Amino acid sequence: MEYTNFGKTGMCVSVAGLGCGGGSRLGKNRGMSKAESVALVRTAMDLGVNYLDTANSYTTEDIVGEAIKAVPRDHIFVGTKSLIRKDGRMLSVAEVVASLDNSLRELDTDYVDVFQFHAITPETYDDALNVYAPALLKEKEKGKLRFLGFTESPPNDANQEVLKRAANDDVWEAIMLGFHMMHQNARHNAFPYTQEKGIGTLLMFVVRSIFSIEGRLQSDMKELAAEGKVPQWLADRENPLDFLIHDGGAASVIDAAYRYARHEPGADIILFGTGSVEHLKTNLASILAPPLPKQDTDRLEELFGHLYGVGLDVPVKRTA
Ligand SMILES: NC(=O)c1ccc[n+]([C@@H]2O[C@H](COP(=O)([O-])OP(=O)(O)OC[C@H]3O[C@@H](n4cnc5c(N)ncnc54)[C@H](OP(=O)(O)O)[C@@H]3O)[C@@H](O)[C@H]2O)c1
Repeated sequence: MEYTNFGKTGMCVSVAGLGCGGGSRLGKNRGMSKAESVALVRTAMDLGVNYLDTANSYTTEDIVGEAIKAVPRDHIFVGTKSLIRKDGRMLSVAEVVASLDNSLRELDTDYVDVFQFHAITPETYDDALNVYAPALLKEKEKGKLRFLGFTESPPNDANQEVLKRAANDDVWEAIMLGFHMMHQNARHNAFPYTQEKGIGTLLMFVVRSIFSIEGRLQSDMKELAAEGKVPQWLADRENPLDFLIHDGGAASVIDAAYRYARHEPGADIILFGTGSVEHLKTNLASILAPPLPKQDTDRLEELFGHLYGVGLDVPVKRTA
């Protein structure tokens, strides 16, 4: 495993972080037992992963809590989250604090390393900043969380308005954002200031559905070509991204996706979600592999650097 500084938090984190939500929820979505999911998390930890990303809404906090009993608490970093808006209604500050308290109970721990407001949109950002952050900073003083942040909501904010606005606000210590081979805008909208200010970054949507569900890349590419947003030849190929797969290049599109994100300047933790030990191991190998050749990353920027809103769907449940 390779480790890096998580912004200026002082946390030395693994460059690969296990996502405990998404379409897989540690295999819960395909009916894995709690013991099997705990074993999956422990395999990740045995392989050097020291950051686990969960959330109140993932219903995997109890799995994470059980898994981390295997190591001293300060050998592992746990991030969790609370929504501030649910079922069309803003939660009260007390409800968000109660969510944190509930997370601590589920995780069976005294503190979380990172607490984030979950899926913040342009509509909820001001309240996250002005109403909920001050309240959670009081909980931080009590020792319930070490660092405060938010996660953007790519399906609801393709233009990254929230990330752009957060550049001006000094309260955030950890930001989770969407970034992938065909959604590269955090390079302009976030990484310049997260690096300058020492805000820790977690990258999500690196593979998601577009690069992992059979046929999805081809159908999205056809739509983009029809809209004139990518050249037609990409839509005509059986595997539109096969130019990345060659000797000295990537072994597969998924391999390319994780390597691409991992070596982006400003990327601290690459989150990967899975319910499969086999995928866990191949994904770690990809995240730890060298950068893609420069000619390939240049090509990805030239072909897709202008795109907004591609591959940013809600999670597709992995049931098999
Ligand atoms: N707003 C938010 O706060 C937010 C939103 C999204 C995600 N997240 C976090 O980010 C984490 C990562 O989520 P993501 O959806 O962005 O994950 P991802 O790593 O981009 O996508 C993973 C999906 O692709 C499949 N996959 C993974 N490796 C594979 C492989 N080698 N071969 C074939 N299929 C593979 C997985 O299913 P298998 O089970 O089959 O491996 C999984 O469902 C989540 O778990 C969550 O912790 C947060």
